[in-house]
Amino acid sequence: MASKSPTSKTLPPAPATARATAVQPNLHQQSHETQKYGEIVKLPNGLSEKVCKESVALLNQCLADTITLRDMYKKHHWQVVGPTFNQLHLMYDQHFEAQVLLVDILAERIQLLGGIALAMAADIAESTKIQRPPRGREPAAVQIRRLAEAHEMIIIAARDAAKKVDDAGDDGSNDVFVSNVLRTNELQVWFLSEHLVAASPVTA
Ligand SMILES: [Fe+2]
Repeated sequence: MASKSPTSKTLPPAPATARATAVQPNLHQQSHETQKYGEIVKLPNGLSEKVCKESVALLNQCLADTITLRDMYKKHHWQVVGPTFNQLHLMYDQHFEAQVLLVDILAERIQLLGGIALAMAADIAESTKIQRPPRGREPAAVQIRRLAEAHEMIIIAARDAAKKVDDAGDDGSNDVFVSNVLRTNELQVWFLSEHLVAASPVTA
């Protein structure tokens, strides 16, 4: 006679209290931090803790500045005014999207080195070196000038960071600084700068 498969066996119902416990979400959980900001969890990546820590510090500074620049693009996307409204409105959003990608690349690079990525707005505001723009609206030319200055600051820091992590043997972080951060920011500087020429879109 064929034996019954284990899955066909019907268990008796659990007591009502056990059922309730099994499905009731515990909404009051608390814990200490499991990793402090600045600490490194050593992962088997062939890099020393010291190297990882130094790379993470450089990546976090770049992350804070990149998040600030990303958000400045959205501010300007919303607040732009003038005869080039549509062109700038669209370009600002294209650049914003590219900066969003950079943010994720930087943050995940930090985490995979065993570090902690900055994330929240208050922490970014305390850490970024980019000057805070006013809340109010500014002319398009000033928007572009602010963005170009922020790009240049990030570019200079990225070149310096790329050399430091390269000297330390962290090739992956060097690649992020050069292939992602540097190249994206250089490209966006070009697009921005072409809008600051004297030629007017409305007068010959
Ligand atoms: Fe939009």
